[in-house]
Amino acid sequence: MVERRRILTGTAALAGVALVGPSLAWAALRPTSTQVLGPFYPVTLPADRDTDLTLVAGRDGRADGQVVDLAGQILNADGVPVSGARVEIWQANSHGRYAHPRDRSDSALDPDFQGYGVVATDSEGRYGFRTIKPAAYPTGAGGWVRPPHIHFAVTGRNDRLITQMYFPNEPLNDVDRLLNGADNRDGLIAAVTPTGDVLGATWDIVLARG
Ligand SMILES: [Fe+2]
Repeated sequence: MVERRRILTGTAALAGVALVGPSLAWAALRPTSTQVLGPFYPVTLPADRDTDLTLVAGRDGRADGQVVDLAGQILNADGVPVSGARVEIWQANSHGRYAHPRDRSDSALDPDFQGYGVVATDSEGRYGFRTIKPAAYPTGAGGWVRPPHIHFAVTGRNDRLITQMYFPNEPLNDVDRLLNGADNRDGLIAAVTPTGDVLGATWDIVLARG
């Protein structure tokens, strides 16, 4: 009987360690900051809205610019992957122009650039797109030029986050009022690695509740 109780106590103690240990050691992830939607969310979504923005269905050409393979994971603040989250991106082309009626810049449109894509995260919360690096563009407000960035709308189970992803080592990052106004500024900047002709970009997104 004593022996049996000792075994049960020991098991309970082990279970206690297993439950308490990680939670004591766990540091909550800092949620990704929100950023303004901006004026250029598509008025009409393109017919082709898959994860390869460098090709437009029915056209032979490929988008101008530096190809970027962008990938990341959507997590909640406890680090748990958010599966089935809807991830939308939209962005300027390699000339700094949006395919949007309100973008009245003289920069060239690129008919071979999709400009928008949407995907659902997999069972590990992962998403991925092939796109091009957007160019910086003038806002028309004083001398403010936006650094290269990709707009994101992420719809999880509880949270919807509108934000923007930036590229590292861009001089314009240091003076951009939207990036520098974010409470978690550094969390908005992707990690990039050149892999041959393609730029690899990794950017994880933390939703407070997922
Ligand atoms: Fe933008």
